[in-house]
Amino acid sequence: MSHGRITGWATNLPDRVLTNDELAQMVDTSDEWITARTGIKTRHIDGKVTEMSAAAALDAMKMAGVSPDQIDLLLLATISPDQQIPASASVIQDSLGLSCGAFDLNAACSGFVYGLVTAMQFIQGGMERILVIGSDSLSSITNWEDRGTCILFGDGAGAVIVENSADKPSLLGWDLMSSGDAADLLYCEHGDNIVMDGQAVFRKAVLAMEAAAINAMDKAGVTSDQIKLVVPHQANVRIIESALKRLDIPIEKAALVLNYTGNTSAASIPLALVDALNAERVDSGDLILLVGFGAGMTSAAAVVRWDPPTI
Ligand code: COA
Repeated sequence: MSHGRITGWATNLPDRVLTNDELAQMVDTSDEWITARTGIKTRHIDGKVTEMSAAAALDAMKMAGVSPDQIDLLLLATISPDQQIPASASVIQDSLGLSCGAFDLNAACSGFVYGLVTAMQFIQGGMERILVIGSDSLSSITNWEDRGTCILFGDGAGAVIVENSADKPSLLGWDLMSSGDAADLLYCEHGDNIVMDGQAVFRKAVLAMEAAAINAMDKAGVTSDQIKLVVPHQANVRIIESALKRLDIPIEKAALVLNYTGNTSAASIPLALVDALNAERVDSGDLILLVGFGAGMTSAAAVVRWDPPTI
């Protein structure tokens, strides 16, 4: 049986940093309110999905020691592609010089976990190396006059290389879910900006994260006390605190980057994962729980046994 594991990782954030104080000059809000209600201090904006993705992917490929001709598939999770057609994945594939299939995947903020789980299945199906990217430019679809949403969002990209190089499974359990009946709580029409019922999304998010995490841990045959690192979707620190409390996981186990990234949708989990990996927060054999939720409403969780690449 073939098993995938992560052998390279990298991120990219656009240069322009937008502070809470700047937002307070644009809408009726304050640094104090945004910090207390969300945990966000700054976010990066004005990024293009194809550019951020290609930069992150190139660094991830370098780290894994993988050349463009060795990539069998490119999978891009995004809700804010540069164009409706063609898929941004195809533009990235060309700019990186890959010769392989490439497609965009829209599962909103759950997208990277959907992508990682999908990549692991392709590895089991015989592929050798897959590039998985989570990238979004939410600043391009934000209503900068709506204080209920514009304080939350930012841009970024995170990329990982998944290789068929593990002796035993690293993806131990996973859960993918969609509740389309709640689609009207968070949406964006073509050519328009994001519309959100913040309070309703908040309530659903906590429950969806808890359910997804429990299902993934059950399938993996592990309990929450065995988890070393949680990588939650970075939407609001209060959502993360509530969900982890219900799961009986201390907040100290969470990877948190939203104070300087804001909510970057599909980029949020890989941004937090890469931050934790670079800080060496996990050792060989440790269990990582990735858990996200987003528009759809989608949710996704995965339990990964960390199998570090041999350098
Ligand atoms: N600055 C100052 N005040 C604000 C504000 C802002 N940016 N946004 C809302 N308020 C006000 C409201 O008007 C309200 O005032 P009132 O009491 O006089 O009516 C008060 O603050 C409380 O509003 P409420 O909506 O209850 O705030 P909240 O604590 O729920 O925080 C969100 C709002 C959007 C931060 C929060 O609901 C949230 O994070 N929701 C989930 C969003 C999310 O995760 N989306 C992405 C999913 S992938």
